[in-house]
Amino acid sequence: MGSTPLQIVILAAGQGKRMRSSLPKVLHPVGGQPLIGHVLALAEQLLADAAKATRPVLVHGHGGDQLQAVLSDADCLWSHQGNPRGTGDALASALPHLTPDGRVLVLCGDVPLLRVETLRALLAAPADAVVILTALLDDPTGYGRILRDAHGDVRAIVEQRDASPEQLAVREINTGTLLIPAEHLAGWLARLDAHNAQGELYLTDIVAMAVADGVPVLGVPAASEAEIMGINDREQLARCEREFQRRQVERLLIEGVTVRDPARLDVRGKLDVGRDVEIDINVILEGAVVLADGVRIGAHCILRNAVIEAGARIEPFSLIDGARVGPGAVVGPYARLRPGTELATDVHVGNFVEVKNSRLAAGAKANHLSYVGDADVGARVNIGAGTITCNYDGASKHRTVIGDDAFIGSNSSLVAPVSIGEGATIGAGSVISREAPAGGLTLTRAPQKSLPGWQRPRKQPPE
Ligand code: UD1
Ligand code: CA
Repeated sequence: MGSTPLQIVILAAGQGKRMRSSLPKVLHPVGGQPLIGHVLALAEQLLADAAKATRPVLVHGHGGDQLQAVLSDADCLWSHQGNPRGTGDALASALPHLTPDGRVLVLCGDVPLLRVETLRALLAAPADAVVILTALLDDPTGYGRILRDAHGDVRAIVEQRDASPEQLAVREINTGTLLIPAEHLAGWLARLDAHNAQGELYLTDIVAMAVADGVPVLGVPAASEAEIMGINDREQLARCEREFQRRQVERLLIEGVTVRDPARLDVRGKLDVGRDVEIDINVILEGAVVLADGVRIGAHCILRNAVIEAGARIEPFSLIDGARVGPGAVVGPYARLRPGTELATDVHVGNFVEVKNSRLAAGAKANHLSYVGDADVGARVNIGAGTITCNYDGASKHRTVIGDDAFIGSNSSLVAPVSIGEGATIGAGSVISREAPAGGLTLTRAPQKSLPGWQRPRKQPPE
């Protein structure tokens, strides 16, 4: 297959009316990535195998500007179909980008779950044939039907709305994925007409033309119904998301991850896992996430762009965003790590603790009810319950620096910029706004008074 040049066209100019959305259909996400992103990734994989490097052509129409903005990094050619007049018209709009060499693979921008193996099987067919990816469906309603003759040879595709009752009974359908010898393409497209129930230029009409011209036509059935699923409405989008997640979890299980309930893990990005990782129920992983050997993620956690190093534990209901958690660290339950947080080995961050843009060195602990923002926290520091780094003066952010082995008494406010020396102790309830010297005790606290003989007010009996 490597010797036959491959060109790919992705059709994505349809409006997607049934989504009832202001977002173009192909920009709706599955697994955290727009539908069209999945299709482009497939195209890229196939083109990487091909002998001569070509770029996929993306046919856009409705919402084209939004599409181009989202896909500004995509290595593709853009073709604008001004007035969508059907799939044949869509492919015709891509002709200026195509050459008559090799084959043209047509993919639909709203079919995100196709497997690359399925398409490779399609490409293994003889290069001079028109090849249709088909599927056998229990309920073929809505799809174009594959018409075969008595010998089983494909003769034509008929659309739902143009089909006779006996054609409608055919269960083999056109998935919309076609492979066409490039030399015939322009000629066939030029001969399309709109004499059909929808008044459109049907790409599928080229099948009958190929048969008439003596070009072989093959229908290759897809292995599973799930992978050919096209997205037209939110119901299909939701089903597609579930199928995508099911596949990902299946892969994780094979890789050796313990997933407590495969139906209650969502991965919306790129996940790298080590050995013996355990993930409890209702976890969402977004963006680039790394879970190293022996990491355990408790129930109801959300991790986004996070690196969790070996043996670290994330306890239930924690939210980790843009953070690195060091080996053996324990985070949560109910912890929030915000971007720029770096926890070193064996750090503990406990319940209702928020950490932002801060580094906590090995063995540091903030176990309860604290805000640590824009801080450098030394090794083995203990941050008592209720401690707040007052990092914002209403105009700018300032840093708090805490030396190794310092002990911050509960309910202290550290008014940044401020530094606490190594081994310093801060008395509970202090407001620290100047440097606290190393080793010593610093506290700001009104002296305690007791008034002997003081009487608590009593309620007067009603008169
Ligand atoms: C098409 C096929 C049908 C097949 C089905 C599979 C035709 C005539 N029919 O039907 O045999 O069973 O797909 O899902 O090809 N598009 C454009 N410009 C247009 C029209 C469509 O770019 O003018 C794009 C859409 O964005 C979509 C793809 O082409 O990605 C398919 O269009 P759609 O209208 O969904 O096709 P169907 O009518 O369902
Ligand atoms: Ca249509």
